[in-house]
Amino acid sequence: MRHMDQTIKDFGEQWLKYSDNEGYYGSLELFSDILSPFIKPEQLRNCSVAEIGSGTGRIVNMLLESGATHVIALEPSDSFEVLFQNIKQPEKVTCLKITGDQLPAYGDLDYIFSIGVLHHIPDPAPVVEAAFRALRLGGHFLVWLYGKEGNGLYLALTQPLRILTKRLPHFMLSFFVEIMYWPLLLYIKFCHWLPLPLRGYMLSVLEKMPPKKRRLIIYDQLNPSYAKYYTQSEAEKLLLDGGFVNIQTYHRHGYSWTVIGTKQ
Ligand SMILES: C[S@@+](CC[C@H](N)C(=O)[O-])C[C@H]1O[C@@H](n2cnc3c(N)ncnc32)[C@H](O)[C@@H]1O
Repeated sequence: MRHMDQTIKDFGEQWLKYSDNEGYYGSLELFSDILSPFIKPEQLRNCSVAEIGSGTGRIVNMLLESGATHVIALEPSDSFEVLFQNIKQPEKVTCLKITGDQLPAYGDLDYIFSIGVLHHIPDPAPVVEAAFRALRLGGHFLVWLYGKEGNGLYLALTQPLRILTKRLPHFMLSFFVEIMYWPLLLYIKFCHWLPLPLRGYMLSVLEKMPPKKRRLIIYDQLNPSYAKYYTQSEAEKLLLDGGFVNIQTYHRHGYSWTVIGTKQ
């Protein structure tokens, strides 16, 4: 509980500092990449959907842009106001300031998404169970998680660093981010020529981000109190234990797991 509350507090502060969804970070092109290969944005047309852990609302806007008729957006942190302000078609959105396990059991949603959230929750099982109850029969739950596979070197370097950085106040952490930003740019350049670790992610995602969002991504790695990196079997088990069937996984850009399951 301590970890969960602290993580929510960390994100509340983070999103007040990095509140916009500019450029590739908030684009339908990125959404297509996140959903691939399981769902195409156009499949969401006329669907009722929910997102668990909406942050600044970039995924909510992507869902609206894809044609969803109604979006339920859950965000428990103090960034709730930012989320509300960023939403482009508020008449189609219900914002709830609650944690994922408290998602009401609507029983009629077509899709539920949780992008980059469950790996920050120490006990995500009640969230998966709540998603199961909120879907209609035949509805799908898609989650995106940090992966253990493909991140070996990255984790060896950053996990010891995180012991310090997750405790730093914003002004010190943002200074630290600035120091790391320039070597990261150089690393991205080298990825064009060399088969370096995380090359796929660097070239397909990070390089396309505006500079401010690259800084946010570094900050987002170093700030949250709790972050778990999932193996493929742990990622599958998460949905399996929640009652989902037809579970499929995809090793997105070789560093993360996209997992989808169906309620039957
Ligand atoms: C990395 S952000 C992802 C935001 C958004 N999905 C996106 O991709 O832009 C994780 C979000 O999950 C929220 N969160 C943390 N714990 C949560 C919980 N128990 N239930 C729901 N959301 C939670 C955080 O407040 C944060 O906004």
